Amino acid sequence: MKTYRSVVRGTGSYLPARIVTNDELATSVDTSDAWIVERTGIRERRIAADDEFTSTLGLEAARRALDHAGMKADEIELIVLATSTPDYTFPATATAIQNGLGITRGVAFDLQAVCSGFVFALATADNFLKCGQYNTALVIGSETFSRILDWDDRSTCILFGDGAGAVILEARESGNEANPRGIISTHIHSDGRYRDKLYVDGGVSKTGTVGHLRMQGRDVFRHAVVNIAACITEALEASGLKADDIDWFVPHQANKRILDGTARKIGLAPEKIVITLDKHGNTSAASIPLALDEAVKDGRVKIGDLVLLEAMGGGFTWGSALIRW
Ligand code: ACO
Repeated sequence: MKTYRSVVRGTGSYLPARIVTNDELATSVDTSDAWIVERTGIRERRIAADDEFTSTLGLEAARRALDHAGMKADEIELIVLATSTPDYTFPATATAIQNGLGITRGVAFDLQAVCSGFVFALATADNFLKCGQYNTALVIGSETFSRILDWDDRSTCILFGDGAGAVILEARESGNEANPRGIISTHIHSDGRYRDKLYVDGGVSKTGTVGHLRMQGRDVFRHAVVNIAACITEALEASGLKADDIDWFVPHQANKRILDGTARKIGLAPEKIVITLDKHGNTSAASIPLALDEAVKDGRVKIGDLVLLEAMGGGFTWGSALIRW
């Protein structure tokens, strides 16, 4: 029986033009640039224009990923969009992106795992490709969190921003090479006991409203360091690799202190961590592909490198993906 690996063909990302600095935020809530930088590492975030939506951002990131891969849109068979901020309750925002790309075959659907969404979407697409059901996949993380923030709540509104990133995967038949390219492992988890630690207080079925993001920041922080370190160890053990073997660690971009704490816990050199959160804050499911795209385009991530992705988010959800680039 043939077996396949999901190889990354291209990456792309898109950030809205409007930049909101910490100083600008400090004109509307009681905070300061110094406090935000010290506690989070974030310096500015992007906010979508009134005529930009999750689909708009995701479509632009997808187009850029296709360009980078040198592929045409109609070569894509599967689209998985990770988002917690869909354009509409239904249909899936992925179908708007599919239509925007002019694709009329294959399948497009949304997946919701908040900040872990991209890792969950990658794991989903990888499994479809590995079993031979599809040959190509477009995996997107796109969010407009600015639309669910309580802009009067200084403990949350400083953390998040809007953006999108995308990765194109192609199934390649597994051969006998020693270190073949492609996704080596994915591990995803959730534990619903903690869903009230980070949630949105509105929704179709319960309130009939959109709601605002609510968070118990200290609890999220505590669980994040523990869960992230655990799932990195899980990925390394499952693959027989060591922290030293990792060339690039591309984590969910939530908080620099969480990343520093994680790196210390697993013994990962700080210079191997790709950090972009200073420029866009926490963009939830979009943050990993945004960081990946930057590190690929500036030449840090090269073919053959061992790249570890990791995320943790509402639910709680968390997970990892280990990729030979
Ligand atoms: N500016 C100034 N002061 C603030 C602000 C602000 N923006 N926000 C809170 N404070 C104040 C609080 O009111 C509190 O004041 P008090 O002592 O007088 O009561 C003080 O700062 C300390 O508040 P804490 O909430 O204890 O601050 P902490 O050091 O925990 O930092 C933060 C808060 C940055 C939110 C932190 O808890 C955190 O990063 N948590 C993780 C949250 C996260 O990353 N969530 C993203 C989604 S999940 C994920 O992606 C992993």
